[in-house]
Amino acid sequence: MEIKRAAEIIRSGGVVAFPTETVYGLGANALEAKAVAKIFELKERPSFDPLIVHVAEPAQVFEYIVDSQCMLPLQRTYVQWLTEKFWPGPLTIVLPKNTLIPDIVTAGLSTVALRMPDNPVALELIRQSSCPLAAPSANKFGRLSPTTAEHVRKQLPELECVLDGGAAKIGIESTVISLQEDGFTILRQGVITREDLEKILPASGHAAVDAGLAAPGLLKAHYSPAKPLYFAGQKEIDKSRAGIISLRGANIGGYKLAEILSPTGDLREAAANLFGALHKMEDAEIDCIVAEPAPETGIGLAIMDRLRKAAYRWRPR
Ligand code: TXA
Ligand code: MG
Repeated sequence: MEIKRAAEIIRSGGVVAFPTETVYGLGANALEAKAVAKIFELKERPSFDPLIVHVAEPAQVFEYIVDSQCMLPLQRTYVQWLTEKFWPGPLTIVLPKNTLIPDIVTAGLSTVALRMPDNPVALELIRQSSCPLAAPSANKFGRLSPTTAEHVRKQLPELECVLDGGAAKIGIESTVISLQEDGFTILRQGVITREDLEKILPASGHAAVDAGLAAPGLLKAHYSPAKPLYFAGQKEIDKSRAGIISLRGANIGGYKLAEILSPTGDLREAAANLFGALHKMEDAEIDCIVAEPAPETGIGLAIMDRLRKAAYRWRPR
């Protein structure tokens, strides 16, 4: 499917799946409540879970947020610093919204999450659609995120338009942050880490979501494969009927199937391969998936966030 046709579908109020550098998105015109409602329907997503609005230029952000008098004095400056450094790229910034953004996009919140994806197909689609795109990951609610067009078709076979941009190079959803006067709060971990952000912004006194802060849409169970997933050692299992997802390939003996995320232990490469490995395991003839925990520093935090949520539903009780 070509971008031109996909943009026509968006302009006529429809929904298309498109590649980004993180995961595939399911997009609709962010300024049209009716179009956005179709995303929630297709995804079977609860209405309390807000969507990210994708733009093609950093300057577009200022069209959809409150004017400078209504913002904290430093918020605008922070946005400029962040977009200069990280956009296009896997960073989503939550800011106070104006009335152009319908409430359905933000689940009734007064803030909107904005991001400029680093993918030529995504950027061209937004430009040709002549509107920002509200887009969650293109999977059924709670299931594995798609990093290829094939993954999208597996979960959403009824979708008319899936733009194929090959495998997503980052492979894990964007880092989501909110801004305060004294710095930032990480609402979702991604490949842009706290350390990366602290080079640009003051460190905020606020804790990250993982420390228990309530944020919409950030559920304990998410990204669930269709098969049970346990951490290594968490449960007695029959290795000959199980698959292992291993960081570097140590301790994979005896398993029916093994996916090695990065032979050199590079966490960025591991993140890029994580959902692909989970999809393979989900589709394989095995009873359960065993995951080796990643080190909880830098990008390892994002990998562990996804794995914990994937394992939550299956935790031994
Ligand atoms: O990499 C990504 O971010 C991908 C690609 C497609 O851009 N999108 C994605 O969207 O992961 P989704 O819907 O699966 O996750 C978006 C998350 C929501 O679950 C929510 O936690 C957070 O972003 N979010 C959105 N709007 C928010 C807001 N106003 N305040 C706080 N969190 C918000
Ligand atoms: Mg998602």
